[in-house]
Parts: sequence; C-alpha cells; structure tokens
Amino acid sequence: MKASELRKKYVEFFVSKNHKEIKSAPLIPENDPTCLFTTAGMHPLVPFLTGEKHPLGKRLVDCQKCVRTGDIDEVGDACHLTFFEMLGNWSLGDYFKEEAIEYSFEFLTSPEWLNIPISNLAVTVFAGDQDAPFDEEAYNIWRRLGIPENRIAKCGKKDNWWGPAGQTGPCGPDTEMFFWTGEGPAPEQFDTEDKLWVEIWNDVFMQYNKVAEGKFEPLSQQNVDTGMGLERVAAALQGKASCYETELFIPLFEKLDAIRGVEAPESRSSSERIIADHLRAATFILADGITPGNVDQPYVLRRLIRRSVMQGHKLGIKRPFAAEIAQVIIDNYKYAYSELAPNAENIKEELDAEEKQFAQTREKGTREFEKLIARVPEHIKKKVISGKNAFFLYETYGFPLELTEEMAAERGFEVDRKGFDKAFKKHQELSRKGAEKKFKGGLADASEQTTNLHTATHLLHQALRQVLGEHVEQRGSNITADRLRFDFSHIEKVSKEQLKEVEKLINSVITDSTPVICDEMTVEDAKAQGAIGLFGDKYGEKVKVYAIGEFSKEICGGPHAANTSDLGRFKIKKEESSSRGVRRIKAVLIKE
Ligand code: ALA
Repeated sequence: MKASELRKKYVEFFVSKNHKEIKSAPLIPENDPTCLFTTAGMHPLVPFLTGEKHPLGKRLVDCQKCVRTGDIDEVGDACHLTFFEMLGNWSLGDYFKEEAIEYSFEFLTSPEWLNIPISNLAVTVFAGDQDAPFDEEAYNIWRRLGIPENRIAKCGKKDNWWGPAGQTGPCGPDTEMFFWTGEGPAPEQFDTEDKLWVEIWNDVFMQYNKVAEGKFEPLSQQNVDTGMGLERVAAALQGKASCYETELFIPLFEKLDAIRGVEAPESRSSSERIIADHLRAATFILADGITPGNVDQPYVLRRLIRRSVMQGHKLGIKRPFAAEIAQVIIDNYKYAYSELAPNAENIKEELDAEEKQFAQTREKGTREFEKLIARVPEHIKKKVISGKNAFFLYETYGFPLELTEEMAAERGFEVDRKGFDKAFKKHQELSRKGAEKKFKGGLADASEQTTNLHTATHLLHQALRQVLGEHVEQRGSNITADRLRFDFSHIEKVSKEQLKEVEKLINSVITDSTPVICDEMTVEDAKAQGAIGLFGDKYGEKVKVYAIGEFSKEICGGPHAANTSDLGRFKIKKEESSSRGVRRIKAVLIKE
C-alpha cells in the first residue's frame, strides 16, 4: 500500500468513527515557547488535552508533519529520519482504552482497512510500577480481541509510558503495536528485542498529570493520543526493509542519479539517504516560513541544508543541486500539503542562496584547515589534527569528520578520532540539556505570566501592523516565563521612534483595561471580520478568535488573559534581524 493511500485510509477510518479531520499544524509550534519544532501529533493539541475546548469537538484525526532532530547524526542508516508524518487520532475526554484499542485493532486487521493477519501482530502494555499500576484493562482488551498471551509483552516506563522525561503535564501508560517484518511466519513468542518486529502504532492513555518528579495526579479529563509513523508503516506494509525504499524517497534518489549522471545503484548509500532526508525536512521548514539563520529553527534549517550539500560534494556533485531535489519533493507532496506549491519558487531560491553562501564558508574552512596544518613543524613524524580542532572545523564550517580525515590524509596527517568523539559527545550533551530545558519550560508552563505574554504578543502583532503597515505578518513566536519573542515580516530595521510608538499604543490598550473575548466561528467569518493570524484552515472549519476590545482580532488556540489590566507595562528590550526579510522583537511585561 502506497503512503498516500495509507494517509487517506487512516483519516477515512476515523472519520467513519465520528472523528473530525484537522489539518496538519505548521512545523513551527505556534505560541509554544518550548520546542523548536512540532515533534508529535499531540504537540499542537496540548491545550486541548489539558481541558481547553476544541472547536471541532472531542474526536479528532490528522496526519501531522513532524521534525525531530535529536538523532540527526544517526540519519543515513536504514530507519532514522528528521522529518516524518505522524498519523494520529484523539479523544479529548471522550472515549478511552476500550474504544481506542478496538479502533486500532479494527483498522489494522479488518479486510476493509489494512487487513494485517493477527498472526503478524504483537503488542506491549504497561507493566506497572510505583507510580501507576499494571495496565490490566489494556491487557484484557487485547486478549478479548484475540491477541494471544505470548504476543503481549509487559514493559516498564521506558517503553510503555508517554510524556517526555523530566517534564510536567499530561502523560500516561501506552500500548504499542508491532508488525512482523521477517520472512516466513512470525515466532510464537513475541520478543521486543527482535528488530524484525517493527513498532507501528502507539496508543497513549493520558490519564495522569505529572506535577513534579515522581508525583502523578489523575488528569481532569482522560484522553487518547495515538501516533502511527507514516513512512515506517508504509515500508512495513510494502515488505520493504527501510522507508528509504518506498515511493516517498525513490523519486528523490532518481533525481539525484540524474544530477550525478549515474545509473541507479543496488542500494542507497548513507550520503544519498542524508541528502534525501535533510532536504525533505528543509523543504517543509522553508514552506512554513523559516529561512536559514544562526539561531533556533533557522540554524537547524541551515545545518540540514549544509549537511546535505556536503554529502552531495562527497558524491562528486560539483554544482548547486538542492533546489532540483526540492522540486521533486514539492511535486511528491503538494497534494497532501497545500503550502508547498505556492511557496515553490521561494523555497528553491532560499536553497540556492544558502548553497552559494555555504560554498564561500567552505572556502574559509579550507583556509582554516591549511593554517592548522601549517602550524605543525615539518620534522614531526606523526602529524595529528587534534580532536578539538577537527570538531571546530565540523561545528564552525560544517566539515564532517570524514572530510577532514580525507583532506588530512592527503597531507600526511591523522585526525584524533577519539578526541573528536569526546568533543562531539560533550557538545551533544550540552544541546540535549538545552533541548530538555526548552521542552520543559513550554508545554508544562501555562503560568499566568506566560498567558499574559501571549496576550501581549497579540497586541504587538497588531501594533506593528498599525505602525509599520499591513505587510507585517507573524513569522514565529516564542514565549518564556520572562519575555516574549516575536518574528515578523519586515525588511528594514524598525526605528527607535517606531518602537516607541508601538510601545505607546500597546500600553494605552493595557491601561484602558480592555477585555479579551474568545469567540468560535468559521474560517470564512473570521476572515470577513478581519481577524489576523495563521489561517491555513488549521482547525478545519471552525476556529477560535480572540478579540482584544476593538484593537486586535486574531485566530489562536489560547489561552489568554481575561483583561489587559492583568498585563503590566509593556517594554521592548531588543529589535534585531532574524533572517532575510524577517525582524525580531524581544519584549517584557513589567509589573508595577
Ligand atoms: N504521542 C505519541 C507518540 O508520539 C502517540 O508516540
């Protein structure tokens, strides 16, 4: 079954079970200060999992585009991806374990849907620990549906609990479904360590709220959050050992062959896979309005592009090629993701520009490399480039270790690989901690101050449009407990006078004690009323519109302050460039 058919069937199945289809949210979390990218289908739905009412009701289904960069260095093997699509269905305080498992079972096994023989399926359920009991209910439901005892494994928190470690917020036990991908019949006894059993779906039963480390309270509503990785399941159903062997990637590889002027090889190399994966992620990130830069999402985007270009060079490609691959990606996905085609030219221009800029950086890196070499006296026998220096070339100029090694070997040098690994690990550890902190601060943090800053962001958006012009559109938003950060489309630097005017406007709305009112309406009505914000038919037909008096009207999931009098004084701390054509403002609310 092709991925496009799987996508369609999944949505159709859940619509037939009274779910409403929602469109994939953008890859850049909206008003979620904590994460750089949308990492799971549940991510944009967090406010609704914690009790906010969703305009489309309590049963939702979608195919969400996701980016996870935690394992970026593993990409190139058979299974890792940075960009992937996650199919998911949700119950927001509606059905729970019984129906969720029944639905999963029916979709997987019914001849009308995926028609997988029960003999090729196995499942895991939560074994229980000091925080929560064995999930006997899930176990019994699977048994009743016909999954034999020896195909149900009981696992601990590490495998059967969803909710990122160290984070507070909704979480709970899950049950995972596995598909046998080996040749011949599946072994009777399910072994979770056997890699031929591929995990295809995860049903999370969000019934707890983690309020502190080791402290779990029952959640106000019981939710179901499920996730099925589209690429992985398509590969499994097609009997392919890797998602890189499916039609989602084959046209990209064919284009790459054409660019290189080579015949299709027997199997794809890690360089080819990195190019395909990274450019897929880059294309989708660009389509969501991010351009390459040096911090946050723009930096990740830059790395993705540069890493793929580097691999292209390794394959002997001597000219810009990223835009050509991007066009194939756009053609492949434009029917499922309407944001791609209208942005095609822009996406390709950005890729071209970045590729050219990178070529210049690489020249500088090569000069730096020459300097390193020149520092080592001729007479030294064992010439070595230290791990620290190799890592410096990697980090600053994007030189993969293999490239430094190759260049070094040509000059009779060795590279201290161990030292490089050490520097690399240290860096990874630091970024992991940074990422955890980011995650933790966000989903968990619906504090009053964050809510107030969220409302202030709406005021800023509107004030900028009044002062600078209606071309101003949100390009990104990030809120921590201390400040807001707002990226918007605008070419020039915003002058001091303009910033003062923006502040003055906002503070006058605040001192007027303006009420903040939430209304639900159709996208068309919202547009007709002049509401701003990311339309993108995000919630299907009905959306929430937050109005701040007559001053601002914006589509948004919330939450917001009830009245601007809660906010305190608004002060802009910084105005700077974020990326080409995008300015960034950081601002705070001062309680007086
Ligand atoms: N949120 C769950 C996951 O990402 C479904 O696996």
